[in-house]
Amino acid sequence: MTSEQTFIAVKPDGVQRGLVGEIISRFEKRGFKLAAIKLITPSKEHLEKHYEDLSDKPFFKGLITYMGSGPVCAMVWEGREVVKTGRMILGATNPLASQPGTIRGDYAIDVGRNVCHGSDAVESAKKEIDLWFKKEEVQSYTQAQHGWIY
Ligand code: PPS
Repeated sequence: MTSEQTFIAVKPDGVQRGLVGEIISRFEKRGFKLAAIKLITPSKEHLEKHYEDLSDKPFFKGLITYMGSGPVCAMVWEGREVVKTGRMILGATNPLASQPGTIRGDYAIDVGRNVCHGSDAVESAKKEIDLWFKKEEVQSYTQAQHGWIY
């Protein structure tokens, strides 16, 4: 069975608003498996590495300040096509373009406060998981009671 992992983060605004449980619940109910989770206030250096591809964007400085403004709930989720499906669960980056029923479509209106982050490709997911988690923090286990859950 094809399985993959993605990096999902509840951003500081999502943690402040008490949306961590809701976001975890949506991934769990969809059938994905939580492989790692921690609450962390990331350093400026850590965030500059995470967002290095965006360093020439006009919003870069504000994005780094916002993401370092408080705890982020960093997670690894696992399952079939979880990278693409995870992005669908989050909704479009700009919440005004997000469909109702997605996290951003239900809870956000401002791209600068868009509640959550999800890796955009399998390769970037690998890089992001390595940046945010030590190998031993990512759990490998079987949910034996559900053959169709990963
Ligand atoms: S771009 O310009 O197309 O490369 O950017 P995009 O893929 O839409 O978004 C990449 C990440 O930048 C965040 N972003 C912003 N943050 C603050 N202010 C503004 N204006 C802004 N525009 C984009 C966006 O939320 C993405 O963050 P992540 O954490 O990847 O969701």
